[in-house]
Amino acid sequence: MAKNIVVLGAQWGDEGKGKVVDLLAPHFDIVVRYQGGHNAGHTVRIQDRQFILKLVPSGILCGKLAVIGNGLVVDPAALLEEIEALEAAGVEVRGRLRISNRAHVIFPFHRMLERITEARPGRPAIGTTSRGIGPCYEDKVARRGIRMADLLDRENFRQLYDALAEDKEIVRRAFQIGDPIDFAAIRARYEDYAEQLRPMVCDTAKLLNEAIRAGRRILFEGAQGTMLDVDHGTYPFVTSSSAAAGGAPIGAGVPPTAVHAVVGVAKAYLTRVGAGPFPSEALDERGEALRRLGAEFGAVTGRPRRCGWFDIPLLRYTSMINGFDSLVMTKLDVLDPFDEIPVCVAYRLAGREIDEMPATHRGLSAIEPVYEVLPGWRSPTTGLTRYEDLPQRARDYLNFLEERIGVEIGCISTGPEREQTVWRPGRKLPRLLEN
Ligand code: IMP
Repeated sequence: MAKNIVVLGAQWGDEGKGKVVDLLAPHFDIVVRYQGGHNAGHTVRIQDRQFILKLVPSGILCGKLAVIGNGLVVDPAALLEEIEALEAAGVEVRGRLRISNRAHVIFPFHRMLERITEARPGRPAIGTTSRGIGPCYEDKVARRGIRMADLLDRENFRQLYDALAEDKEIVRRAFQIGDPIDFAAIRARYEDYAEQLRPMVCDTAKLLNEAIRAGRRILFEGAQGTMLDVDHGTYPFVTSSSAAAGGAPIGAGVPPTAVHAVVGVAKAYLTRVGAGPFPSEALDERGEALRRLGAEFGAVTGRPRRCGWFDIPLLRYTSMINGFDSLVMTKLDVLDPFDEIPVCVAYRLAGREIDEMPATHRGLSAIEPVYEVLPGWRSPTTGLTRYEDLPQRARDYLNFLEERIGVEIGCISTGPEREQTVWRPGRKLPRLLEN
């Protein structure tokens, strides 16, 4: 049994973590997000209802205490909108959501600055979600950011806000952005948000550490995926936070020793939204087929996702960074119609096989993927729940991946519903979850 577990994406995000967290959450008392903001989009389907959660940890849907940790950047307008939508659908949120007083606050001018940076001629656009995430983290690291606790402290907020507004006005003028910003109106709006959020804001590190001491179980929920981690991902085509498992203790305010196991979520093929290197991208009609069959369009932005084949060196790399105890494989059924399934088994660079992930954009872009082609199973697996019922070739595919990655695949998702799940016999994942 592992008391506290991190669950996170093993690829570039959109691995289907929403469903997995929803599946694991009943074993835990508290679900915590530790990084990112409303750039994340977790789609959870429960019976005929679909929820897209951007900031609120998906554990809220099964009645758990949900925590937005200090590692997040929070747009109050987006958060309040999400809370209202959930409450309108009958989910109780305000009584069960806690927001860290150390989380940073996103303002409308963060989005504006992001648009300018992304549009600068001659600079590579990251293809961000345009939510102001990066500029808010920039202010955090530059030590001029405004945190939830500051927002709630009226006097202090005015001073800090006016100083920040002055800085942003200088930038606006320097970049010759035509539209003036009504800083006073934004301040008034945020003073109103502060009152709405106040009852949910607290010292969540204290709350979590006390809960751990009282024997409660905590599930740390990652967003975005390891390859978008600011340190370990395909820099600079990454998000601005520590999406890897190491980000969990920092972004939640618990000691690293409070994390007992790490579960990775990997799609049975690969997708990426936004720009950046993607060695196993399928630019042919099979890539189109993956997009169509897997409905691969961004949950937050609606952008079509780039699609490609499972990448073993990438999984070996993210396993090294995160120390996965087990993997959950999602969307296996999307591969059902394919005659053949290519799998990237190695990387070559300038004709030589390499066994490390290049650090530079140039190196990453120059990777030549080496493929092995596995036979498809060409029979429906959607909704299967028993491992024995999977076609032999689907089991061969899973065994092949498991063996090459060197980490067990403990569970397979065969559809969006909670019940459409196969637990693999003899794997340690169910034991990690036992109470
Ligand atoms: P940002 O997080 O908006 O700064 O975007 C940086 C990069 O991360 C872009 O390539 C986005 O498409 C990507 N990204 C951010 N959030 C997600 C997510 O939840 N899923 C997939 N990609 C994401």
